[in-house]
Amino acid sequence: MSAATHGQPGTPSLRAGVVGLGMMGRNHVRVYDEVLPDVELIAVADPDPVALRRATTGRAARGYADPRTMFDEEHLDLVSIVAPTSLHRQATLEALASGANVLVEKPIASDRADAEAMIEAAQQAGRLLTVGHIERFNPAIRELRRRLARGELGRIFQVKATRLGPFPARIRDVGVVLDLAPHDIDVMRFLLDSEPVRLYAETEQRIHTDHEDLFNGVMKFANGVIGVLDINWLTPNKRRTLTVTGERGMYVADYIKQDLIFYSNPDAVQTWENPGADDSDQLTTSVSEGEMTQRSVRRQEPLAVELAEFARAVRDGGPPPVAPRDAMIALLLAQKMVEAASSGVVVSGAALAEALA
Ligand SMILES: NC(=O)c1ccc[n+]([C@@H]2O[C@H](COP(=O)([O-])OP(=O)(O)OC[C@H]3O[C@@H](n4cnc5c(N)ncnc54)[C@H](O)[C@@H]3O)[C@@H](O)[C@H]2O)c1
Repeated sequence: MSAATHGQPGTPSLRAGVVGLGMMGRNHVRVYDEVLPDVELIAVADPDPVALRRATTGRAARGYADPRTMFDEEHLDLVSIVAPTSLHRQATLEALASGANVLVEKPIASDRADAEAMIEAAQQAGRLLTVGHIERFNPAIRELRRRLARGELGRIFQVKATRLGPFPARIRDVGVVLDLAPHDIDVMRFLLDSEPVRLYAETEQRIHTDHEDLFNGVMKFANGVIGVLDINWLTPNKRRTLTVTGERGMYVADYIKQDLIFYSNPDAVQTWENPGADDSDQLTTSVSEGEMTQRSVRRQEPLAVELAEFARAVRDGGPPPVAPRDAMIALLLAQKMVEAASSGVVVSGAALAEALA
């Protein structure tokens, strides 16, 4: 692996590049250049001269109009692909062919064929491919996952994702389901460690000229948990929360504030503090209002955590922080939601298994 001479004493820096310098790409540029100590931002690429100038002004990184020229000339160790989703496949294949490890933004690609080609190319090249499912790196979600894994809620009944906000005029190529639902579908699979066995959705197109902008979806998981998705581009206030209800209470994680609040059910049978105990005959049979407790969360920028873990995985030779197959499943489940909404048919059985195969 080639490496620059900058960085922490004794540790050569990884050579980083960014493809696509729009709203999200600018954040990758900033984190590589200003936040990560063991990474050097070497070069960036975007065909838009304005975006290129804005990203390189005041930085040592070189700018390229064509990503391929950047890959050929700069021998990068790691690359973020932050171009529009329809270009993810081509840019990823070119980056991998140049020997770089790749973090591609979510959704992994536009369709299954592209995602599979990218996964295959990474295997052939012997390089890492990971996907920017940024909410997995949100400290509130990490703390929630740790607490759920300890059994703090007992049996989980429902996970509800709320992702509401104003209309983003710049997103024209996909609707709200493919743009936003992969975040929450991925978080639900990440937290529950279970696969959906049935799903249904309703969508509406109220303002967007080409795609749906209002979405409600339901997924029934194999472990019995109901996943509810309430996502739109029509709310004049940005709200992003995840609510998990179980027999011992309810957790509400706020993705934006990185808050995690616990509402206890004082009637619950408290066996989780004694994990060795057999609780099979102790079931919670009533619910009442209990205490509200704010759990401590060490706030960090999720993108900085994500890119630091990508760089660490590149140094260590893997594994990718988010397996590209998980990202492909999140995309395919989002596509099944769109299908269910347009056909009015519940997706289950073989039709759903095909997305998860
Ligand atoms: N993880 C997240 O939370 C998150 C948030 C926003 C966007 N995204 C993803 O990031 C990607 C980019 O989204 P955005 O909102 O920054 O879009 P954007 O439209 O703001 O920026 C895209 C940039 O890509 C450039 N571009 C176009 N063709 C290119 C090419 N051939 N090579 C290199 N660059 C090219 C454009 O000129 C533009 O500057 C999308 O896949 C999107 O889904 C992820």
